[in-house]
Amino acid sequence: MEIIIEPDAGALADRAAQIVFAELARKPDLVLGLATGRTPIGLYERLRTKPEAFADVRFFNLDEFFGLGPSDPNSFNAFFYKHLLNHVKFQAKNVHLLRGDVKDLEEQAQLVEDRIKVVGGIDLQILGIGRNGHIGFNEPGSSLGSRTRPKTLEPETVAHYGGSIPNLAITMGVGTIMEARRCLMLASGADKAEIVCRMVEGPIMSEVPATALQMHPRAAAVLDEAAASKLKRRDYYKWVFANKWRVGQK
Ligand code: F6R
Repeated sequence: MEIIIEPDAGALADRAAQIVFAELARKPDLVLGLATGRTPIGLYERLRTKPEAFADVRFFNLDEFFGLGPSDPNSFNAFFYKHLLNHVKFQAKNVHLLRGDVKDLEEQAQLVEDRIKVVGGIDLQILGIGRNGHIGFNEPGSSLGSRTRPKTLEPETVAHYGGSIPNLAITMGVGTIMEARRCLMLASGADKAEIVCRMVEGPIMSEVPATALQMHPRAAAVLDEAAASKLKRRDYYKWVFANKWRVGQK
């Protein structure tokens, strides 16, 4: 996993936006997997500065609460419209967000898995990490080969999202996430330092689903100093990033 350490949450968002815009420049009809939570909000603020860049982007997302429709302010669909889609140019036919207001979550899960295949796979998946090590809503113990499916949330996760949300969700599986061509994990704040250390330097295990990213051929974690503070090889990661080979280098 490539580790990029930035001074603070603002610089982290700048770096993440730079990576997303570079992908968009390479492929304007990028298949972009979105994440919710507090961490990527700064990234979405920066993405909004180039509204035209999203005209052909195909949008997917990681998860949604069972029973919540897009008009519910607690839904992740509402989050994406509020923080990104309402501010950029996009085509409705290109929005493939998971829906929680369906009768059959398994059918919805299969539908999205099929759509990901139809568009040729996710090019770039944005990720955050829960303090329990979840990615998407793949809570501890999730199979590292899991596919999109209904998932029961840990009480800690329900509390993190305000407490008044359902304890059942639909989430892309760890295996589904691992098929994205590129994964961009964002983590900021001292309360993430412990789990970031386990994700990057700990053993790969379903107890910490984010450790699966160690097996991903092209995953990067953009961290702020606080989130990186418990990494044993922090100085080494900084040195590698400062001295790495870059395209066009002579
Ligand atoms: C959200 C998601 C979650 C969050 C995680 C971190 O779509 O899939 O895995 O990324 O709960 O949330 P924040 O950023 O609020 O700490």
